[in-house]
Amino acid sequence: MGKKRIGILTAGGDCPGLNATIRGVAKAMYQKIPDVEIIGIVDGYKGLIEGEAHEMKPSDFSGILTQGGTILGTARTPYKQMRVKENDIDKVALMKDNYKKLRLDCLLTLGGNGTHKTANLLSEEGLNVIGLPKTIDNDIWGTDVTFGFHTAVDIGTEVVDRIHTTASSHKRVMVIEIMGNKAGWLTLYTGIAGGADIILIPEIPYNINKVAKAVEKRAERGRGFSILVVAEGAFDVDEAKMKKKERAEKRAAAGETTATNRIARQIAEMTGFDTRVVVPGHYLRGGTPSSYDRVLASQFGVYAAQLVSQGIFGVAVAERNNIVVHNLLSDVAGKTKFVSPDDQMVFTARSLGISFGD
Ligand code: F6P
Repeated sequence: MGKKRIGILTAGGDCPGLNATIRGVAKAMYQKIPDVEIIGIVDGYKGLIEGEAHEMKPSDFSGILTQGGTILGTARTPYKQMRVKENDIDKVALMKDNYKKLRLDCLLTLGGNGTHKTANLLSEEGLNVIGLPKTIDNDIWGTDVTFGFHTAVDIGTEVVDRIHTTASSHKRVMVIEIMGNKAGWLTLYTGIAGGADIILIPEIPYNINKVAKAVEKRAERGRGFSILVVAEGAFDVDEAKMKKKERAEKRAAAGETTATNRIARQIAEMTGFDTRVVVPGHYLRGGTPSSYDRVLASQFGVYAAQLVSQGIFGVAVAERNNIVVHNLLSDVAGKTKFVSPDDQMVFTARSLGISFGD
């Protein structure tokens, strides 16, 4: 096999496991082609547009397995803007030019849904692209799991555990907001793992009366406190009838961004219980990956290196039924993996007595 130059970038929100994946790619590549050249593109697609990249050495990939964030830096460069010229700048043309200037044989893109859409765009433009599925949201179509997700579940669970003891001491209702704007996977898993009483996710619009009833029912059974885990993108049955824009405008007018504070206020008004809000936010995304994610990221990285050596491009790495596989980027791009209300995990939660407020 001839000498190869591989570009690699991390785009969108960061998450634990990005560096472990980069390391997996590099270690496997160096074994296959000792003189392979790996080019680190800085800050995601922004770096590819601006031509900001550097050649990496094998030592750059040492000691990063456990490191959170991304050694390459990342940025949000919205897919929607990719074909929009700003100050006469044609971003797609620049990315293609820089791919050529950097003499890349292929490009590995580590990211979420937006990243995969742009990866597909570049693949359609003739570049050799492989996507790797990163996100704490676990909402990439065609893969059972994304790296970063399980670490975030672990962190979310620790938050819920710690909130449990203070909730119980003070007999309070604690409303914990978990990241996840579109999909409720992280909230669902965190809620089950943390033993939450109520889980509210975007896929199952809630009825606030039912949420308050669930809190009151617990109190009737002698439970003086309740734990709610609420996805940041959760909305109620009335908001479910609105378009996203209308919902956002109504919330902005009410001084709200997410539903969490409103839910807490409504519960306090309806039940009279002392209620508090907790927002771990980006804390869920920081720090070292869990052992699960270190293994998954390593598997994904090694698999991507194998695809490179086999010359298979235009694909996204995925895991199905515990086997690492790949899907066509064109199949993945533009789709979101939502929680189905019939999902076995929803059934599990309901069977444990957890309310979805529906
Ligand atoms: O994509 C992961 C995610 O963590 C979402 O759950 C969240 O809505 C979003 O990123 C927020 O990210 P940022 O503040 O970095 O734009």
